[in-house]
Amino acid sequence: MSMTLLLLALHILSATIWVGGMFFAHMVLRPAALPLELESRIDLWFRIFSRFFPWVWAVVFTLPLSGYGLLYVAFANPDPTPAYIRIMQWLGWTMISLFVFLFATHFRNMSKMVHKRLLPEAGIYLNRIRITVSVNLLLGLLTVIVATTGRYW
Ligand code: HEM
Repeated sequence: MSMTLLLLALHILSATIWVGGMFFAHMVLRPAALPLELESRIDLWFRIFSRFFPWVWAVVFTLPLSGYGLLYVAFANPDPTPAYIRIMQWLGWTMISLFVFLFATHFRNMSKMVHKRLLPEAGIYLNRIRITVSVNLLLGLLTVIVATTGRYW
């Protein structure tokens, strides 16, 4: 029982940090930073990503680990699992893959351009990160709805 509580707390905190962080970045920081000049805007976003992405890296481990932990601890027979958990699981892996892809390609390229001070080029990758994060934000919100309403359908 206490293991279930611990895993569920870890799971829900991970989801909150990730989805809430993306919501804040996309819906609040982006419009607020838009009036800045290109150079300070790119530098600001680079500092933001450098602080937010380590949290996302932590979450991409704690979320599936706690999720599968819950399946084994809280569900006597994890196979077959309820539909909403299977949907959550696949949405989760899609989000994780998108993040790893974004980090390994767009963010790495953006870092290189920032260090070379090629700012318009860095802006191209910033834009790609924005698009990927907006997809992941939608998937994250959908996952939270599926995860919390699932027991009622
Ligand atoms: C990656 C694989 C994942 C697995 C295996 C997994 C598994 C689980 C399990 C077993 C539960 C407990 C369900 C219950 O007690 O009825 C749960 C709850 C939950 N999960 Fe996941 N999950 C995963 C990913 C995610 C992701 C990506 C999110 C959100 C971004 C998420 C959000 C939630 C939420 C909000 C709950 C709480 C549901 C509630 O207690 O009302 N999960 N998850």
